[in-house]
Amino acid sequence: MEHPALKEKVLTALRGRHNSIRFRFWETPKETLKLLFYRLSGRSFIDYYADRIATKESEALPSEPIYLDVGKEFLTYLQEHGLRPEDHLLDYGCGILRGGLQFVPYLEPGHYVGVDISASRLEQGQGLMDEAGIPRENYATYLVQDCSLKELGNRKFDIVWAHAVLMHMPEADIRALLASLKGHLNPGASFYFTFFPSESLGLDRITKDQVRDFYYPTDYLKEIFESKGYEFEILPKGYKENWGVRTRARLLSDWN
Ligand SMILES: C[S@@+](CC[C@H](N)C(=O)[O-])C[C@H]1O[C@@H](n2cnc3c(N)ncnc32)[C@H](O)[C@@H]1O
Repeated sequence: MEHPALKEKVLTALRGRHNSIRFRFWETPKETLKLLFYRLSGRSFIDYYADRIATKESEALPSEPIYLDVGKEFLTYLQEHGLRPEDHLLDYGCGILRGGLQFVPYLEPGHYVGVDISASRLEQGQGLMDEAGIPRENYATYLVQDCSLKELGNRKFDIVWAHAVLMHMPEADIRALLASLKGHLNPGASFYFTFFPSESLGLDRITKDQVRDFYYPTDYLKEIFESKGYEFEILPKGYKENWGVRTRARLLSDWN
């Protein structure tokens, strides 16, 4: 093309939202087909995503201070919102336990539970906890394959923390989680989570990116929570990390 400006315009249009032609025309269609194959063979989105994390190098989470130190902000944030050592905390989608590295030493022994769909991330996280000298008997982690929370038995929590997790969950799984969570909340419990609002893309419908990122219209997500008996409150950001809108949900009292 003779006109560099025109060429750049065409390339920008082709790159689309991902800012990448490869992502748009190769990675995304390939992963979409893979997910379809999982679905057709009776497996779930969680099965697809857990396998993707286990096999794709680009999904690896770094055991490095720049990533792990964000966990310190989690603890400060929750302390500012009233977290006490005697509280019981569920870290939903705990990943490599960057939250656990801070929460476990602060909480009374046995008061932290982390769950995740990725065995490799839980294993990496346990290695980091060992390195930090945090005894395994002071916390519990569970590998989950669905949102039933059956692994938790009759444990109940005061705080549920799901940082950067709901953006990787299809609507049906969010609904299932909200239903299961009810049985594991102490009176007055708060569920803190982040989500990607579709408004940030200029869209007012559920939108998927890279197959595993979900953007929900804020009002729509709020309605899902309310239909399951939760209050839904957008909170001021309050700390540095740029990973979704911070929100708090609480069970409406007449659903308790
Ligand atoms: C972006 S990482 C964030 C990890 C952790 N919350 C943190 O901030 O360090 C998202 C994590 O959520 C987990 N995850 C995704 N879907 C999940 C689900 N339905 N149930 C539990 N964990 C899930 C992923 O395996 C991943 O480890």
